[in-house]
Amino acid sequence: MKIGILGVGFIGETLVRKLSAAGHDVRVANSRGPDTLRDLAQETGATAVTSSEALQDVDAIILSIPLAKMPPLKDLLASVPADVAVIDTSNYYPLRDGHIAAIDDGQLESEWVAEQIGRPVTRAWNAVLAGTLRKDGKAKGEAGRTAIPVAGDDAAAKAIAMELVEATGFDAVDAGSIAGSWRIQTGSPAYCTALTVDQLHEALTLADRDLGPARRDAGMAVVLTFGAKYNNEDLLAVNRAVTRFPK
Ligand SMILES: NC(=O)c1ccc[n+]([C@@H]2O[C@H](COP(=O)([O-])OP(=O)(O)OC[C@H]3O[C@@H](n4cnc5c(N)ncnc54)[C@H](OP(=O)(O)O)[C@@H]3O)[C@@H](O)[C@H]2O)c1
Repeated sequence: MKIGILGVGFIGETLVRKLSAAGHDVRVANSRGPDTLRDLAQETGATAVTSSEALQDVDAIILSIPLAKMPPLKDLLASVPADVAVIDTSNYYPLRDGHIAAIDDGQLESEWVAEQIGRPVTRAWNAVLAGTLRKDGKAKGEAGRTAIPVAGDDAAAKAIAMELVEATGFDAVDAGSIAGSWRIQTGSPAYCTALTVDQLHEALTLADRDLGPARRDAGMAVVLTFGAKYNNEDLLAVNRAVTRFPK
């Protein structure tokens, strides 16, 4: 598959590495230009390009940039055919991203993103910690594989997202529509808690839309007290503690 990835941070770089290793034709861009991605390209076989080039002539686009940086993408995406799957990894943390009134007032993050960029998104890899994504992938069928939820309204785009999640070494779980994607937002039991398929199904049923934002902010407030001294296990422990899942 031809895949364009925007964003080469904690999540995006791992996606470039894993999807290239799985045989996909990956072109990748950050905000500073392709020259800053030459080493990654050489190492992985991906092609370093501009943001505009990353979106052209691809089957799927993965947006792995901060949520607040989405709005300017509208112009870049305007010429992308409607059948190209746009997969979004982003999450909203007001303590990090600044307050977005519409989301604070209850608009779903994926609805806000879709409104900003002018087209619907499929949500994937938003509910997996970067460290989990980097080190916990397993081959299909291997015991103890971690699951990742995927939400979206377009069946074809969701199928592509689920195939790509599997290619990164995780069980893809259909988490339903965008209207129900509050079940995989920050502060939900399914959010970055590294669950098996069965646990993830249970977590989706236990989500509480009203409590999500308070749990998100409590978790972030605790993490900020760690300063620079925390690791993936610390983040996992916080996410599990604020949602009390799994027990
Ligand atoms: N970190 C996690 O554990 C985690 C887990 C799940 C989901 N997420 C979500 O996934 C997204 C990415 O997270 P991250 O931690 O990987 O972020 P990150 O480390 O801060 O990296 C962000 C990347 O986005 C690039 N970028 C920003 N604006 C861009 C633009 N207009 N065009 C192209 N590239 C652009 C940056 O490029 P430059 O460096 O050149 O500016 C950078 O490569 C966020 O929305 C985050 O909430 C993160």
